[in-house]
Amino acid sequence: MEKSSQPPLKPQQGAQTYRRLLSYAIPQWPLFVIAVFGFMLFSSMEVMLIAVTELLLDAVGVGIEQGRGFLSQYVARFFPGGIMPQETARWLVPLVMVIIIGLRAVGNFVGSYGLAYVARAVIHQLRTELFEHIGQLPSAYFDRYTGAYLISKVAYNVEQVTNSITKSLKVIIRSSFTSIGLLTYLLMVNWKLTLTFFLFVPIIAAIVSVVGKRFRKLSHRIQNTMGDVTHVTQEAINGYEVVRMYGGRKYENARFQAASNANRQQFMKLVVADNASVSVIQIMVGLATAVLVWFALAPGMVESMTPGVFASYIGAAASLAKPIRNLSEVYAEIQKGIAAAESIFEVFDAPKEPLGGTLRLPSPVTGAVAFEHLGFCYNEGGPAVLSDIDFHVQAGQTVALVGASGSGKSTLVSLLSRFYEPTSGRILLDGVDITQVPVTTLREQISLVSQNIVLFNDTVYRNIAYGELEGKPEEEVQRAIDLAHARDFIEELPQGVQTVLGDNAQILSGGQRQRLAIARALLKDSPVLVLDEATSALDNASERHIQAALAEVMKNRTTFVIAHRLSTIENADRILVMDQGRIVESGTHSELLAKGGRYALLLQQQTSDIG
Ligand SMILES: Nc1ncnc2c1ncn2[C@@H]1O[C@H](COP(=O)(O)OP(=O)(O)OP(=O)(O)O)[C@@H](O)[C@H]1O
Ligand SMILES: [Mg+2]
Repeated sequence: MEKSSQPPLKPQQGAQTYRRLLSYAIPQWPLFVIAVFGFMLFSSMEVMLIAVTELLLDAVGVGIEQGRGFLSQYVARFFPGGIMPQETARWLVPLVMVIIIGLRAVGNFVGSYGLAYVARAVIHQLRTELFEHIGQLPSAYFDRYTGAYLISKVAYNVEQVTNSITKSLKVIIRSSFTSIGLLTYLLMVNWKLTLTFFLFVPIIAAIVSVVGKRFRKLSHRIQNTMGDVTHVTQEAINGYEVVRMYGGRKYENARFQAASNANRQQFMKLVVADNASVSVIQIMVGLATAVLVWFALAPGMVESMTPGVFASYIGAAASLAKPIRNLSEVYAEIQKGIAAAESIFEVFDAPKEPLGGTLRLPSPVTGAVAFEHLGFCYNEGGPAVLSDIDFHVQAGQTVALVGASGSGKSTLVSLLSRFYEPTSGRILLDGVDITQVPVTTLREQISLVSQNIVLFNDTVYRNIAYGELEGKPEEEVQRAIDLAHARDFIEELPQGVQTVLGDNAQILSGGQRQRLAIARALLKDSPVLVLDEATSALDNASERHIQAALAEVMKNRTTFVIAHRLSTIENADRILVMDQGRIVESGTHSELLAKGGRYALLLQQQTSDIG
């Protein structure tokens, strides 16, 4: 079944997503408040700097007169005759400007730092939660979606959310304070003139809204294509042997190019939408300023202001362009962040694996297992993979499952560990329905060596004493190594048990990997042991060794063995023969052999294959 790289997106309310996102920022409120104050300082100083140009220009000549000026009314008042002499203005005005610029820098630093702090904290929180949530998703989720798609979310989408929050909050706070400051100044200096500006507000708002919607759509596409890029890369890297041996380089390159190119194209569309809107808004603000100047230069208007006031007024009007443009981009930026947040929350909303019930298992667990009329299919409405599985295993017995490939053996044991939920029937461990006990408790009772061996990029020792086994005494680890017949090859490794195995332990042979997995399971020492093809990669000699060792450990625990090589299961207490999800025969080796049914046939086929 082809895995989809992305689940379909549920249409969600943007505002709802944004609120949910903000809930992550709320614990950081003290720094947020500090940031707001920082930007308030920044913006007020920005406006002050423009206003001060009035004094600069009006100082030319006699000095700053109290008369018609806006600032000079307040400033010149303190000087004899209401005039600040030019000599005084010469040092006072630059000094004030330096102070303003200094304060503006401090405000910007405090604001940016505070906001970055909040954003990074949010990202850390989101990323950690995402990782933890992914760790609790049910097996079915991993069957459906590729790992690369989840990796891309943790790496790329989360980052996208931060960028979006930091950028947009920064702009919202800084630019809105600045534009409010500038507008206040403009209104105070000349309110009638300033009203012309507002004529352009609806046009700008319309552009902003259209562009924002487009941004959200494009951002979703960019994220999806980013997921494709990761996915193709991961597959090509993991499968490099197949790619090379089957001449797949061309195909993989083409696939990668297509994914990367799709990503580029969507990005370019974003760039077009972004810059086109910026240009249009710039033109709008330019037009507004032009109209303003036209009105300002009207007879009657000019005379009402000093040249200094006039210059700083026009300066302030022109300075409005930048914060307005920035604000106009915010909406789009937010949409980008929302798109990323949606794709993250959608993972959060995927239901976790069930935790199980609260019943306790008897202590100690003896390991009696019962399957009762179990039925299962992987996908709703799909074919039944298991039907009417019904058998009891006494504590300490060894049960072998045999049958053709695809007959459902691995599926059966994965239900025992509750990786999937049965469609019908139930499984009992020591008489307790396994759905009634906490799933963690259940898994503590089972040691699993699965068909697909997983080793981590860590030392041999830590691979064996993995997870909860970390605290096991070293003698036990050494004993597990001996029982699994892993000592010889481990001692030949450069640093023995301290050798780091690398990505999925590629430096080991298949049989060596299996023996490490067996050692890990033996160290766990739980009442139920499941060996799914655990000895398939071993040569006859090693297999005999391990068989002897396993016979020892199987003695006091319930064991399920799945093996293709029937010679390994002859001593099992019971052999179950499976076919197309059903148990078709059950008995000991000699019973089944005497019966001359399916098992006898399988055995015959195998011996004739070998012979
Ligand atoms: N994750 C899954 N999603 C959907 N179908 C699956 C999944 N895993 C297995 N199947 C299907 O379920 C059936 C039983 O598979 P299972 O792995 O249990 O067989 P098996 O007896 O262990 O085979 P083998 O001896 O080859 O390991 C197969 O038809 C397989 O295609
Ligand atoms: Mg299998």
